[in-house]
Amino acid sequence: MNNLLSIESLSSNDIIEILRRTKVMKSTRGNHSDLPLKGQCWALIFSKSSTRTRVSFEVGVRELGGDPLFLAAADIQLGRGEPIKDTARVMGRMLDGAIIRTFAQSDVEEFSAFSGVPTINALTDEEHPCQILADLFTIQETRGTLDGLRVAFIGDGDCNVARSWIWAAARCGFELVIAAPTKFQPPQHLLDQADGRVTVTTDCAKAARGAHVLYTDVWVSMGKEDEEAYRLAQFQGYQINSSLLHEAPKALVMHCLPAYRGKEIDDQTFEAHSETIFRQAENRLHAQKAVLQMIAAGRKTDVIS
Ligand code: CP
Ligand code: NVA
Repeated sequence: MNNLLSIESLSSNDIIEILRRTKVMKSTRGNHSDLPLKGQCWALIFSKSSTRTRVSFEVGVRELGGDPLFLAAADIQLGRGEPIKDTARVMGRMLDGAIIRTFAQSDVEEFSAFSGVPTINALTDEEHPCQILADLFTIQETRGTLDGLRVAFIGDGDCNVARSWIWAAARCGFELVIAAPTKFQPPQHLLDQADGRVTVTTDCAKAARGAHVLYTDVWVSMGKEDEEAYRLAQFQGYQINSSLLHEAPKALVMHCLPAYRGKEIDDQTFEAHSETIFRQAENRLHAQKAVLQMIAAGRKTDVIS
């Protein structure tokens, strides 16, 4: 594996191997026998806010022997309009890898192609692969297996996190039911590629019934702030709360965070399931270290000059 650009681009074997290594990373934290990033410098180039992703990558790169270099996109020439392909060709000559949080998925792909160094998607408008890898690990460590899994995603069914869930269901072969208002459902072409694993409804109770996992994300993703009032109105009723939990009383409640209590989840449910939710956040560190280790074992990608 040379890059992590999306869940779409992973094979089911890649995911199985990442989850296997995540378990080892977690159990050997503080006691790693090899440092695959020793002597390397990895940039974090972020155009959007972040707490978990930034901290887990900065800590993770250090724990594997490397040096992280945080670059807010607004502080470098990228923020003043320098093309991504020029930024990539400069950075590719100095860095050992890049971890990018931005808007367009094509920017991450272009950076990867032009830099020639391993590139990791730390969230785009289309996917959040690191999040879903940590989530799959969290489910596996709690349930023991992903076999027979049924996940209900409640809320913005067309956001980056939901889209990565769709690809995960397709690759891993579990059942995903998305409950979302009609205008916030994933496009049909995406569902068509999910091997029949994903269904969509406007009925939260129907989605939740029999689910092993109830999952939600913010109603207003980064970059959508100007739609806030419209979204808050559209998503009324698409909340994980004690009433929805009646449909799946034993379900794991999961949230990628940050959480907005009273919107996509109520405070009581959030706090009752906080152990799972914050373990999800912690598992970002272990899963991303597994990805970095796999990439370090790969080779430098081809450069477009
Ligand atoms: N879940 C997640 O990616 O959180 P941050 O936006 O804080 O990185
Ligand atoms: N869908 C959210 C995820 C935050 C981690 C966003 O893009 O803001």
